[in-house]
Amino acid sequence: MTEILNNTNETPVVIKKYFDNTSGLSTHPKSLNELIELLYQAFAANEVNIDYISTIMNNYKGTMDEWKPYIKFQSDRYTRNLVDAGNGKFSLIILCWAESQGSSIHNHMDSHCFLKCLQGTLIETKYAWPTIGEENPMHILQRTEVHEGEVAYINDSIGLHRIENPSHTETAVTLHLYIPPYDHCNIFDERTSRSNEAKVTFYSVGGRLTAIE
Ligand SMILES: [Fe+2]
Repeated sequence: MTEILNNTNETPVVIKKYFDNTSGLSTHPKSLNELIELLYQAFAANEVNIDYISTIMNNYKGTMDEWKPYIKFQSDRYTRNLVDAGNGKFSLIILCWAESQGSSIHNHMDSHCFLKCLQGTLIETKYAWPTIGEENPMHILQRTEVHEGEVAYINDSIGLHRIENPSHTETAVTLHLYIPPYDHCNIFDERTSRSNEAKVTFYSVGGRLTAIE
C-alpha cells in the first residue's frame, strides 16, 4: 500500500505499509511523551509505515496523570484538546465525552484516524457514504463498542462514523491520532444524508483553554 496525503506543511506524507524506517524504534511507548517522540521519529522522513503507527497506538497504555492536563469537559458538548500538532504531519488529540455526549456523523478528509479509548466505553457507528443527490436515511455498516485500551481505525474509504458515550453515569476519554491533520470536515444528517461543512476547533491547546469556544 502506498498512499500520498496532503498535509498543512505542503510536504506530502507518504503512507507505505511496508516502508521500514522504524526498525530500532520501540514498539511499546511507556509514556505519552515517548509516544509523541516515536511519532516524530516515524514521520521524520515524510514516509511512514502505518502498521508501526497502529502498533504503538495499540501498545501505549499511559496513565491518568499524563492525560490530566488535556482532560477538560463541557456540559453541552464533547471537547477536543490538542496534545501535539506533529509539525503538520499528524495531530494527537484528547477528546472528552461527558455522560451521553456524542459526535455528529462525519468524514475524515482523506486522513487516517486512530481512536484509542483511554477511559470508559464508546460506541462507534460506521455508516456508508450516501448516494449523491438522494435524500435517504443513512445506512449503518457496523456498530462496535470500543473499550478501555482498545483502538479503532477509520478512513474515508471505509466510510463515515459517529462516536458516542452511551453511559448516563460515566464520562469517557479518547486519544485520537489524525494523519495528516485537517481543519474542517463534513457532517451528515442521519435521516436525510444531507451534509454540511464543519470547522474543526480545539477547546484547549497544550493544556490551555482556547478563546474559540
Ligand atoms: Fe472521527
